[in-house]
Amino acid sequence: MITTQRLFLRRAQMEDLEDLHAVFSNNDAMRYWDSLPFEDVSQTEQLLRGMVAASPTESDDFVVEYQGQVIGKAGCWRLGEVGFILHPKYWGQGLAFEALSAVIPHAFETLPMSRIEADVDPRNVASLTLLAKLGFRETGRAKRTIRVGDEWCDSVYLELQRLDQKPSDG
Ligand SMILES: CC(C)(COP(=O)(O)OP(=O)(O)OC[C@H]1O[C@@H](n2cnc3c(N)ncnc32)[C@H](O)[C@@H]1OP(=O)(O)O)[C@@H](O)C(=O)NCCC(=O)NCCS
Repeated sequence: MITTQRLFLRRAQMEDLEDLHAVFSNNDAMRYWDSLPFEDVSQTEQLLRGMVAASPTESDDFVVEYQGQVIGKAGCWRLGEVGFILHPKYWGQGLAFEALSAVIPHAFETLPMSRIEADVDPRNVASLTLLAKLGFRETGRAKRTIRVGDEWCDSVYLELQRLDQKPSDG
């Protein structure tokens, strides 16, 4: 677990279901996710079961606790790939930046990887700006990479190299 100035970042537990469902069922939070907002709590339960069961050798993922409540999640949900989501009620206060500034060094220390990648919808300005602020650089773009509901979405690919790694080391 990790503590920051305002946040407590810890492994997910099944007791987090209700709080996490409030996030994953929220239309604004899910606007650029890779699935539609979860209508049924069983969908969040499935995601949460995956988080709880994830191997610590392949995943370094956290629920984000703020003022005693789980407000989202952040971390490397699988080897080399970052993911993050917070409930919109808590946006715009620097909380995602605070969480990821702690989570990313932890993931590099914990997992065998030389870089972390992100795949972001080009319209997701908040996430692109957040990742740029964390030092991620764009590596490419692709059209129609994922279909969410009736809508085809594009991707911006970004990566962050481990600090002690030269770009050519891959
Ligand atoms: C992306 C997300 C986690 C940002 O959370 P947040 O706590 O509001 O972000 P922060 O307050 O830490 O912002 C960090 C930086 O991102 C940028 N940013 C955040 N929201 C922004 C917005 N709506 N528009 C433009 N820039 C934004 C700002 O530059 C900010 O830095 P600054 O405060 O120095 O200006 C949040 O919007 C979210 O949960 N989105 C939905 C989930 C999602 O799309 N996840 C990514 C899927 S790939």
